[in-house]
Amino acid sequence: MDCGGNEDMTGDLARIRDEERAVRDAYDSVPYPSASQHHTHPDHLAALAILNGLDPAPAQRCRVLELGCADGGNLIPMAAEFPESRFTGIDLSPKQIESGRAAVAEAGLANLDLRVMSILDVDTTRRSAVGGRESENNRDDAALRPPTPDSPLPNQFDYILCHGVFSWVTPEVQEAIFEICRTHLAPHGVAYISYNTYPGWHLREMVRDMVVFHTRHFPDGDERTARAFEFVQFLSETSAGGGDAHALMLRTAREHFEEFRHRPAYLAHEYLERTNAPIYFHEFAERAAGHGLQYVSEAEPAAMEADNLAPNIAARLHQFTSDRIELEQYVDFAANRMFRRTLLCHANARLDRDVTPKKLRRLYVSSRAKPVSDTLQPRGTGSESFRTERGAVFSSAHPLAKAALSALFAAWPEAIAFDTLRSNIARLLDEAPPDDDALTDLLASLHAAGVITLHASPPNCARGVSAFPRVSALARLQAAAGLLVTNQHHRVVRLDDPFVRFMVRHLNGTRSHADLVRLLDAEVTAGRLDVSSDGQPIREPQRIPAVLQALVAHHLRQMTEYALLVE
Ligand SMILES: C[S@@+](CC[C@H](N)C(=O)[O-])C[C@H]1O[C@@H](n2cnc3c(N)ncnc32)[C@H](O)[C@@H]1O
Repeated sequence: MDCGGNEDMTGDLARIRDEERAVRDAYDSVPYPSASQHHTHPDHLAALAILNGLDPAPAQRCRVLELGCADGGNLIPMAAEFPESRFTGIDLSPKQIESGRAAVAEAGLANLDLRVMSILDVDTTRRSAVGGRESENNRDDAALRPPTPDSPLPNQFDYILCHGVFSWVTPEVQEAIFEICRTHLAPHGVAYISYNTYPGWHLREMVRDMVVFHTRHFPDGDERTARAFEFVQFLSETSAGGGDAHALMLRTAREHFEEFRHRPAYLAHEYLERTNAPIYFHEFAERAAGHGLQYVSEAEPAAMEADNLAPNIAARLHQFTSDRIELEQYVDFAANRMFRRTLLCHANARLDRDVTPKKLRRLYVSSRAKPVSDTLQPRGTGSESFRTERGAVFSSAHPLAKAALSALFAAWPEAIAFDTLRSNIARLLDEAPPDDDALTDLLASLHAAGVITLHASPPNCARGVSAFPRVSALARLQAAAGLLVTNQHHRVVRLDDPFVRFMVRHLNGTRSHADLVRLLDAEVTAGRLDVSSDGQPIREPQRIPAVLQALVAHHLRQMTEYALLVE
């Protein structure tokens, strides 16, 4: 990012730095509390890379760079989970980095380096720190060593993450994001970039224009967001009862504001930031190609598949084009897509998208899809339905599909290997294990439909409740600090119930169920916790221990289901 010295370039540079200062001030005054984004987790990216024919670094020993990491809420759980991997996060906002560093110190993490730095300065800082360009392809031990405050940024990263940044920065910063991926991604590395996309953002952009205008005299902050909220409510009233497209758009905007009422920082940055530049997927892919990068897949594969649309629509889209990027663009048109999480790799990396038994044998499978019926029959020809985590229903009469999903449901929250799944299916159907190719085809379609998740290594989850239950050390710290904790599948679990939060804080693997009941009893007696049964507060002291015992058992079972308990 040399400024070159002529007047135009100097003027450009001044404008770019002005923009940067404005962004930094906006995030310093309204910090963006970041949290786990499970689609960015290196194990998830490794699984998708393997599926697409790459040979990625394992999450247990990799180098991760996050651009625009805010307060490190996404990187901290990864660094806690993989002590032998090295994580680097950069962000413009000193205030956010400062609070991230405090959390890193509290968690005692030596493998996470959070720095105040602009995306525009990654290369200049790195060059001056190392005194020249390092050799390419150095997946070396030095890069995995714990960072010191002055150590240079590693030259290469196995995973580069940039979530919630690309659409809110100037074109120069966007170009720098692609360029950092081109220059610093390992040969089989994967970059994750999320962005607002069209056509969906056309509608949201109309609302954004209106609220930006209405709040133009307010400085960034809670007051401005509150005014924007009121205005969206008002706009929606102006067309109350109307059935036209405008009324529908305003109603949807009001619902969006209401849904995120408890996260005003999200609303502020989503609607009120100075820059907001959505982009069509095909344009994004073309710009990435201009930087020597190619499209691998979406981080949420179900969202990209034409075949998830109604069969007659999918067939028409396949008639329009056989080009993958064009086809996905059509899917976005049909689905009115407004957000993408796109994975890129080097243009010269050879991709092979065929799903084969060999690839699946390198992976583990999990599914949270629940049988709708209590009397599920995997054998026989009757249709059975399974409800996915996102509420979609998958139905099949095929014994292999029914048995596979029953076996995965029984294993949840664990992820199991291909051959374990084959044996479990054989047991359920009381016949020989399924043919490799048949199971591969089934898993490929379940994955494309978003019914199963693939993992490059199995998450460390307890399948049942042990005598001395334990959650991760990080979850205990997070429960002490607030409502959001990260589970063993790198997803955020919200603990609204103070009772559950108290339990999570104390599940360190040294306390029996009886110990937990005693601890809780002391809290209730001291008036620091309330206890209720069927929504009614318990007043009689003699009933409290029995109620607590039942509650502890109930919540521990739920924590298993929420993948919070570790082995
Ligand atoms: C909407 S927040 C997203 C934070 C985080 N990635 C997440 O998704 O939770 C955007 C972040 O990008 C940072 N940012 C914007 N421009 C930047 C730049 N040029 N260099 C570094 N960070 C930047 C902001 O300071 C802010 O923390």
